[in-house]
Amino acid sequence: LITHLAHTDHGPYPIHVGVGLLASGTALRSALPPGAVLVVTDSNVAALHLPALLEALGEAVVATVVLEPGEDNKDFAAWQRVIDGLIDAGISRDGGVVALGGGVVGDIAGFAAATYLRGVPVIQVPTTLLAQVDAAIGGKTAIDHPAGKNLVGAFHQPSAVVADTAVLATLDDRQYRSAIAEVIKHAIISDASFFAQLEQDLDGLLDRDSAIQLAVISRCCEIKAAIVADDEHEVGQRAWLNLGHSFAHAIESASGFTVLHGEAVSVGLVLAARLAMRLGRCSSALLERIAALLVRARLPTTVPEGLSPEDLIKRMAHDKKRDGSGLRLVLPEDIGRVALVAAPPRGELLEFLHGAKDPR
Ligand SMILES: NC(=O)c1ccc[n+]([C@@H]2O[C@H](COP(=O)([O-])OP(=O)(O)OC[C@H]3O[C@@H](n4cnc5c(N)ncnc54)[C@H](O)[C@@H]3O)[C@@H](O)[C@H]2O)c1
Ligand SMILES: [Zn+2]
Repeated sequence: LITHLAHTDHGPYPIHVGVGLLASGTALRSALPPGAVLVVTDSNVAALHLPALLEALGEAVVATVVLEPGEDNKDFAAWQRVIDGLIDAGISRDGGVVALGGGVVGDIAGFAAATYLRGVPVIQVPTTLLAQVDAAIGGKTAIDHPAGKNLVGAFHQPSAVVADTAVLATLDDRQYRSAIAEVIKHAIISDASFFAQLEQDLDGLLDRDSAIQLAVISRCCEIKAAIVADDEHEVGQRAWLNLGHSFAHAIESASGFTVLHGEAVSVGLVLAARLAMRLGRCSSALLERIAALLVRARLPTTVPEGLSPEDLIKRMAHDKKRDGSGLRLVLPEDIGRVALVAAPPRGELLEFLHGAKDPR
């Protein structure tokens, strides 16, 4: 068991990472608030891991809401089902919510916890690799609106995160591999020695070697928690976490979400490095090194067939309108160093994306 303390404006919270934390139950029980809790999960995760969680938490759990799985269901109806569950169970401010699942469950349950009675505690128990290295940490919660992803949400830090790496054994290969793009992203943003370690350990990580999983997930939690601690509400360096994401969001949505988030991030990381190289901000060796690691994880590195650069640019610009600034991109300068820069003019970006359609 490895425990990190994440620092927030409202004090620290623990992030526990370990093998078998659901089965042992100790870390989970130590995270419980004094009052009763509601468990929120989805039907896939419920079938696999809910019994172990309920066993561990015992009488503290007064009810469970089982949501339909998938991004399609990260909507107002799901949020209301959790709120209804909280009201029916009579959860008060001394109780809270336990979110057992991937990023979708964590975001819905977290937003319900943020809004019910103006905020009750949420314990995040992430069950996907993506949620363990990214979504469960940092306190962003949201649901989708028909007009776009994550349009309705709140900052609401968890009271604890309990990441049991043993539950990853049941995750399918595509979901598992796609999250490795986020792992690589964390290393590029902040830590050259972690990146070198990943180059050594990638095969073990792909084979789900338990010691390697533990070390990698733990390091990612540490990196994300440190970045968020310095900038909880994303006015500065938290934006670094968006490395590759302007491209990725455009690719995901243009593909109708048939490309998974992590897969789109993989392409986005390579595009960011290619653009950085073109702008004279990084070397071709850096681009090669990043792309080589993603390829070894069998992740895509070029814009998928059939997506037009014109459409991608439109989507990138739309994404940016929401934050009121012009289009800015996070670009890698070296392993462990990124910069937030104004994007090149539209014409230049368009030409760049046309070039990026061809395999390297
Ligand atoms: N809040 C944040 O900071 C943040 C950061 C990144 C992503 N996100 C959000 O996270 C979501 C994506 O999360 P995700 O990739 O975890 O997807 P997900 O929650 O949809 O999970 C993927 C699939 O795996 C299943 N699953 C979950 N755990 C499993 C397990 N242990 N074994 C077998 N199947 C399992 C789920 O039922 C689902 O079908 C997106 O909505 C994204 O916006 C949020
Ligand atoms: Zn991401």
